[in-house]
Amino acid sequence: MVRALRWPDPELVDPQSKRSEQPASCANPTRSERADLFVAIGICTHLGCTPTLRLDDAALNAELHAPGGFVCPCHGSRYDLAGRVVKNVPAPTNLEIPDYAFTGASTLRIG
Ligand code: FES
Repeated sequence: MVRALRWPDPELVDPQSKRSEQPASCANPTRSERADLFVAIGICTHLGCTPTLRLDDAALNAELHAPGGFVCPCHGSRYDLAGRVVKNVPAPTNLEIPDYAFTGASTLRIG
């Protein structure tokens, strides 16, 4: 899944996350400091509902290189596993990534 996130996906609105909010340390294809851990603000960029992780969503998996992502139950916006929004959904931008830092092997400070 992580490897597939690195491929440019034409189905994404902003695959390089140039118009999205994330710290400079997350300006990469996985939008994370560590590719195995994704940290994002779980608020849809459309009207603020909570997208949920879906690894088995057939429609999402059919349209993206990488299987899995986040689906907003309110109006159907879909994001890949890096929080990048799919084209032709209501959400205008990728999920926001907060400032964060790893303070240990298993601890994380957000903000
Ligand atoms: S609030 Fe998520 S699609 Fe509308």
